Amino acid sequence: MQALILAGGKGTRLRPLTIHTPKPVVPIVNKPFLNYQIDLLKRAGVKDITLSLSYQPGKIEEIFADGGDYDVRIHYAVEASPLGTGGAYKNAEKYLTETAIVFNGDVLTDMDLAKIVAYHKERKAAATVVLVPVENVSAYGVVETDSEGRVQRFVEKPKPGETTANTINAGCYILEPHILNYVPAGETYSFEYQIFPSILKAGEPFYSYVWNDYWLDIGKPQSYLQANYDLINDKLPVFPVYRHHPQFGSGEDAPKVDYVSVIDPSCTIKPGAEIINSVIGPNCFIEEKARIENSVLWAASRIGKEAVIRNSIIGKSGIIGKASVVDGAILGDKSSLTDYTII
Ligand code: GDD
Ligand code: MG
Repeated sequence: MQALILAGGKGTRLRPLTIHTPKPVVPIVNKPFLNYQIDLLKRAGVKDITLSLSYQPGKIEEIFADGGDYDVRIHYAVEASPLGTGGAYKNAEKYLTETAIVFNGDVLTDMDLAKIVAYHKERKAAATVVLVPVENVSAYGVVETDSEGRVQRFVEKPKPGETTANTINAGCYILEPHILNYVPAGETYSFEYQIFPSILKAGEPFYSYVWNDYWLDIGKPQSYLQANYDLINDKLPVFPVYRHHPQFGSGEDAPKVDYVSVIDPSCTIKPGAEIINSVIGPNCFIEEKARIENSVLWAASRIGKEAVIRNSIIGKSGIIGKASVVDGAILGDKSSLTDYTII
């Protein structure tokens, strides 16, 4: 078994956070996102993993190197310019010699991959796509199936009325190596618009597997926040969260940190500060009586005295002035707000 993670997209919907940090390595509960997918693959015994990169590949290679620190072997297939999901798959051809799990590199899930691969093998499928039911299908690829789970039709980003199915492509496929033959080399190509329709037309055994547990595409600010909330609230028991609750003082004005919040041990939290349902990255400095609620702070931010940060994401090295109120905002790296700002 091998795996390919498609991790070359620009992460446009997460800008400005992805200007200096490619989406596959945005921190989720203080760990680069791909850690979660690599963990899931390891659980299924898959240790031969290729990362397909295009946008800022160096930043991702620097983190994962040859995979040794993660007890896996990582190869890199880097495109000079983005070739689309299908072109990226073809570009990794030399590493895909066995049955492969292909993952969109922005999907947080607790899928049981070993079970899904077993299903694929039992049916002697050439391709299996994992589906998840969602309420609003418009932002995804809808997959219509028959009663035996055979794929019938793909409708990527459907317009109202185009389909009545509510099961979408979860961005995880099990593919036999010969599927690579459906993709021309060196061209921009798409799984969703081209490869899948071609294999359907060719009559390949193409199955679906419905995953009814946790699944989330982290590629939008609200879902990025949701991923953090869900992990710290233990909604994904496969990824237990390490909580370090240091004493930042004692008595009446000790900071108040709720049980679920995750704070990197290198942070300083001053008296009277409150941290609720939030994640605080390394080397942050939270001044007296600041209140941080339902938010994610990346590394090295300083939050001024009595400032309030709510439902927000603060990129690296932010400076939030005294008594500022930041609500529902996404601030890129090195943002600086003067005292008493309200946004
Ligand atoms: N290497 C490489 N090259 N990777 C790419 C490229 C590329 O040109 N384009 C996109 N990717 C990667 C992205 O980094 C991401 O991890 C994954 O492919 C999917 O791209 P998105 O841009 O996030 O697609 P989407 O979320 O709109 O839609 C896809 O995912 C949905 C599930 O979240 C589709 O596969 C839908 O059918 C699916 O429902
Ligand atoms: Mg996506």
